[in-house]
Amino acid sequence: MTDILKYDYIVIGSGIAGIRAAIELKKYGSVLILTKSKLYEGSTFHAQGGVAVVISSLDKPKFHFADTINAGAGICQPDAVWRMVEEGPKRIEELIDWGVSFDTKGKQFKLTKEGAHRLSRVLHAGGDATGANIENVLVNKIKNENIDYMEETYVSKLITQDNEVYGAIAYRDKKRFVIFSKAVVVASGGIGQLYDVTTNPPVSTGDGIYFSFLAGANVMDMEFIQFHPTSLAMDTYPKFLISEAVRGEGAILLDENGNRFMEDIHPLKELASRDIVARAIFNHMNSHHVKNVWLDISPIGFDKFEKRFPTIYKKLMELNLCLKGCKIPVSPAAHYFMGGINIDIKGRASLKNLFAAGEVSCSGLHGGNRLASNSLLESLVFAKLVGDSGKFYENTSIREINFIDEPISSAVYDESIVKEIKVIMERNAGIIRKESDLKKNIVFFKDLWSSYRGLSDDNEKNVILKSMIINGLLISQFALNRKESRGAHFRSDFPFLNDIKWKIHQKYSIYDEDLKWIK
Ligand code: FAD
Ligand code: SIN
Repeated sequence: MTDILKYDYIVIGSGIAGIRAAIELKKYGSVLILTKSKLYEGSTFHAQGGVAVVISSLDKPKFHFADTINAGAGICQPDAVWRMVEEGPKRIEELIDWGVSFDTKGKQFKLTKEGAHRLSRVLHAGGDATGANIENVLVNKIKNENIDYMEETYVSKLITQDNEVYGAIAYRDKKRFVIFSKAVVVASGGIGQLYDVTTNPPVSTGDGIYFSFLAGANVMDMEFIQFHPTSLAMDTYPKFLISEAVRGEGAILLDENGNRFMEDIHPLKELASRDIVARAIFNHMNSHHVKNVWLDISPIGFDKFEKRFPTIYKKLMELNLCLKGCKIPVSPAAHYFMGGINIDIKGRASLKNLFAAGEVSCSGLHGGNRLASNSLLESLVFAKLVGDSGKFYENTSIREINFIDEPISSAVYDESIVKEIKVIMERNAGIIRKESDLKKNIVFFKDLWSSYRGLSDDNEKNVILKSMIINGLLISQFALNRKESRGAHFRSDFPFLNDIKWKIHQKYSIYDEDLKWIK
């Protein structure tokens, strides 16, 4: 059964980016948010450390700009960084007006330092519950403003013709919705679930990249995956994050013998940029055959730790941890995607009427390695810019087109494939890569795509499997192409930066010679 709906704007995803875009677009017409789980379920809700923003009198936009560029390993898109740094404070003031209460001491906001920031500039709420605070306020706002939304509804495809987007196809309980709109905003979050070890929630399966790429949109920087240095090294699913703010407040990393190994690796020690700390831990674990290193929180003091990081403290207590001398077992985990749907400075993708914001998008702002706590800020700034585009659609109308829907194959698959994809991505396209492994991935994903490309979309697991195949293939291909090491992309067979050949962004669409077989 199919329902046909019409909305001026469709927003896919209800994290910080989707909701912020929807709030703005509502000024220009009707908006429908489609979200595949509950409204609040996404990375946003789980964000701990906070939001980096220039708010202190000691700070300046040019400092935040320079720190972002330095962390980004030479390929940040400077105009996008400026936009975020300059417009960020206004977006934060709005959040405060809408009800987010960032932590204060007296009349001053409390600010924390995180890796590769020259000074303390990270606002936080509820100690380490920043994302939950923001998401709750945003969800209340869409309810108060009567913005329509559909939960438990996943988008499987964009409706397109001649490189123009006319809407999207979604499913809820096997029922199909064909939704026509003037414009579509993809805000479906990251790809962490492609990896076996990740901090990302179950919804982060890269769907927006999958269906936008198949529709013809350019994708960019797909080789750059950020691994967070300190996820809790216990069997939780997903991995529970131990915020970088814990190191920002003074915690140090120790090896199995109690030695502070980051001192030998970088002058900023535990607060070097994330790629450096994650790789150092990974290399240490491999060379010493240990499953984790230790985060010693005693420099913070146990009482302060409990107050400053209540969510982490509660988790550690639940797991009966941190009673052993205040040391937490930690190891790296896939955390954030610097790549995604290529957007310009206004959030426009390469297809007409298609926009993207948040972690699914790639303006090049983060370069090869995102500066800690820049993601929430980037999402707010770019989602607002996307929303501003509503004014250009005010005098247009929604157009319906006839389109050909997918072929439906009778292929069935064993669900163990999903686990196999995660293991293969972890092993061959993880923190350290090399040509032979990446080539194996490409063969593996090509085979999977030829077997399962026709799987019907009325089952959400089928869409997720297809998304994982396409994202895995693109990440592996981009990583194979980049014959150097830069930021979060490290090649053991090309361990050095090569600015002469590779100070560039890779950008491809399904129409490119090497990828058009996917169609
Ligand atoms: P999300 O918040 O992930 O939302 C994606 C939405 O898309 C969800 O609603 C999901 O259900 C929906 N969706 C996905 N696929 C579909 C589909 N096919 N159809 C319909 N809906 C779909 N960044 C910081 O700046 N500071 C931090 O302190 C911080 N801490 C973090 C801690 C953790 C544990 C994690 C995982 C990330 C953290 N990050 C942090 C990163 C940051 O939280 C994310 O990059 C950001 O929240 C992404 O927001 P988003 O709106 O793009 O995506
Ligand atoms: C953290 O709290 O360490 C996560 C911050 C981020 O991903 O920016």
